[in-house]
Amino acid sequence: MNILGIETSCDETAAAVVTDGVHVCSNVVASSLKDHAIFGGIIPEIASRRQIESIHGVVFESLTQAKVTLADIDAIAVTTRPGLMGSLLVGISFARALAYGAKKPLIEIDHIQAHWYANFLRRPQDADPLPELPAVGLVVSGGHTSLFDIKDFTKVKLLGATRDDAAGEAFDKVARLLNLGYPGGPIIDRLAKTGVNKQIRFPKADLEGSYDFSFSGLKTAVLYYTKKNSDYAVEQVAYSFQDSVVSVLTGKAIKACQRKKAKTLLVGGGVAANSYLREHLVKAGENNGIRVCFPPLTFCLDNAAMIAGLAYRQAGLPTGRQVWGID
Ligand code: KG4
Ligand code: ZN
Repeated sequence: MNILGIETSCDETAAAVVTDGVHVCSNVVASSLKDHAIFGGIIPEIASRRQIESIHGVVFESLTQAKVTLADIDAIAVTTRPGLMGSLLVGISFARALAYGAKKPLIEIDHIQAHWYANFLRRPQDADPLPELPAVGLVVSGGHTSLFDIKDFTKVKLLGATRDDAAGEAFDKVARLLNLGYPGGPIIDRLAKTGVNKQIRFPKADLEGSYDFSFSGLKTAVLYYTKKNSDYAVEQVAYSFQDSVVSVLTGKAIKACQRKKAKTLLVGGGVAANSYLREHLVKAGENNGIRVCFPPLTFCLDNAAMIAGLAYRQAGLPTGRQVWGID
């Protein structure tokens, strides 16, 4: 079954064709990230205008790269939540019109869940065996930090989420207050490698007894530290901040795997690209008999292959609501 996925929840306009929920035939992404860099964060108005300019070309390019036409597509999947309203509307309107005109079923997909699903996508060069369920999902991106209990593709329960800043948002805000640029995650990741020699004690919010996360106190602690110590070493601040985020994420994810008896941890979202997080989770997984999976970098960031893939597993269900029949 060929599913055409469409993703426009934030600053990426993406379309992809995926066969049987696994095989990625095409994966096209246009990003307006550079247009937002001077503002230090995403400007919703700019993002939605760029979505309108890109959507048509991106969708038809994904069909061309997959060497198919609309006639070969069995269903269309689109991100309907969560995201920026203006950006979401562009993808949803386009997908609805396309599905109606081409008489294809339309499947609604949740963007956050699609991030953990990205671990099931395979390109011709990917040889890893598919992850086993039950699993725990850890989604860490610019907009979300969420833990899921995944019994199977259709039985997914949210265990906890951030109460304030998302992990990626914390990276971006701390990078901004250190004058490092945007997006901050990759810059802090790189800088932190040279700041390992001296650790500053920043808070690690545990929120005892809960799977929720909180990163705003950590961000404020970094702000106060830099105000009090004008001669601070930026690499050490970057390393110590990153260590606090990673140790909270690792601790909660491994605890969730143990409590839910999951042998697999599916990590997804932009922060899954973080080298220190990868290193720590893999080590913790080895010590606890848990297989820790990360998607390749292209599938960590926002993309439509993860939308098309999850739609294959969830079509017809409340989470993957099929909103338009073919009859
Ligand atoms: O998943 P994503 O592309 O978009 C959202 O759905 O939010 O994630 C973007 C986020 C940004 O906050 C960015 O700073 C962060 O992912 N990020 C990283 C790294 N690469 C991207 N954070 C930490 N380390 C990285 N290497
Ligand atoms: Zn995302």
